[in-house]
Amino acid sequence: MELQALKITLTLLDTSIDKKIVKRFLTRQRFIIGRHYPVFAFGLVLLYSIFHGNIYAMRNNRLSNTYDIHTTVLSNEAVAEAHYLLRCECPEIAQHARPGQFIHVMISQDTGLLLRRPFTIYTVEGREITMLYQIIGEGTKRLSEMPKDAPLHILGPLGNTFDFTVKPEPAILVGGGAGIASLMLLAVALRRNGIHTFGLVGAQHRARLLSVTDLEAIGITVHIATDDGSVGHHGYVTDILTDLLEGTAWQHPTVYACGPHGMLSAVAKITVDFEVPTQIAMENRMGCAMGVCLGCVCPVRIDTNTVEYQRVCTEGPVFDATDIAWDV
Ligand SMILES: Cc1cc2nc3c(=O)[nH]c(=O)nc-3n(C[C@H](O)[C@H](O)[C@H](O)COP(=O)(O)OP(=O)(O)OC[C@H]3O[C@@H](n4cnc5c(N)ncnc54)[C@H](O)[C@@H]3O)c2cc1C
Ligand code: FES
Repeated sequence: MELQALKITLTLLDTSIDKKIVKRFLTRQRFIIGRHYPVFAFGLVLLYSIFHGNIYAMRNNRLSNTYDIHTTVLSNEAVAEAHYLLRCECPEIAQHARPGQFIHVMISQDTGLLLRRPFTIYTVEGREITMLYQIIGEGTKRLSEMPKDAPLHILGPLGNTFDFTVKPEPAILVGGGAGIASLMLLAVALRRNGIHTFGLVGAQHRARLLSVTDLEAIGITVHIATDDGSVGHHGYVTDILTDLLEGTAWQHPTVYACGPHGMLSAVAKITVDFEVPTQIAMENRMGCAMGVCLGCVCPVRIDTNTVEYQRVCTEGPVFDATDIAWDV
């Protein structure tokens, strides 16, 4: 009965490419949906209107300093194997973006992609923002094919931010693959505040290495690790983290990390052992990015016996690494 109703909703939402994704997502989320299907169906209908741009009233009430902007691609260039840097003009987002925050991008109205895709704001320069992204599936592939002047529909900035109010000495940024993109605005903010910062950058191989020159240009000491040893340390970026924490008695080291789930869980394990405060940016798949659909939840440990699911789009994307229930 429940599944039948889900199927009807999917038919109503009749999309091409995203139907498979939504269906997979719904099947996985059944433990959350449970007997609350009517509420969930209402959420889906709400999402449908959100994705089609009817968000203005909600935006004004719930998301102050968040803007839904129609813009165009200024440039969209390959910067590494399967990785692109896209630049566009979004003055309001540029003005309000904070380290760790993200944008939700409608790739194009005519691609048949219902869901927007989330990307971190990589850099801000005057009225312009950039996003650094990896080609993963249909959405990012279509994005990489967008020429100059192609229309884009961008909602943002969204989510919480990295915190460095307790001065890190030093700050250690750990980025795996495209995860380094989530740490760039933070890197700039840390250096502006005169904070000694290390950038540990991991990649599969040399051709996929990202952001090294951007980080070095703002005075960050960069250490590289590649899975195949084609450049830098032969192994995981977490090996360098362990060496760095073992090597020196730092004053108040603080780790900021983003990357694949396995890397984040390894970082959390290491920094718990060293008792180093650690903030991580989670990159769960998203639906609405506005706290409605529960598509992005991750398990957070409230106490020894209690795990609560929190929304990466609204309670996150930045979490204290010790709060995440990595074993769930
Ligand atoms: C807050 C946030 C910030 C992000 N910032 C960036 C960024 O700056 N740069 C960047 O390259 N990517 C970033 N991502 C990830 C990015 O959103 C996904 O790679 C993108 O949505 C994939 O879309 P797609 O249509 O190409 O892939 P899809 O066709 O949607 O998916 C293709 C395959 O990849 C898997 N997949 C898709 N998204 C994810 C994910 N988030 N985690 C694990 N598996 C996934 C799917 O299960 C599927 O198997 C961010 C994600 C979040 C939540
Ligand atoms: S993506 Fe919908 S609640 Fe987070």
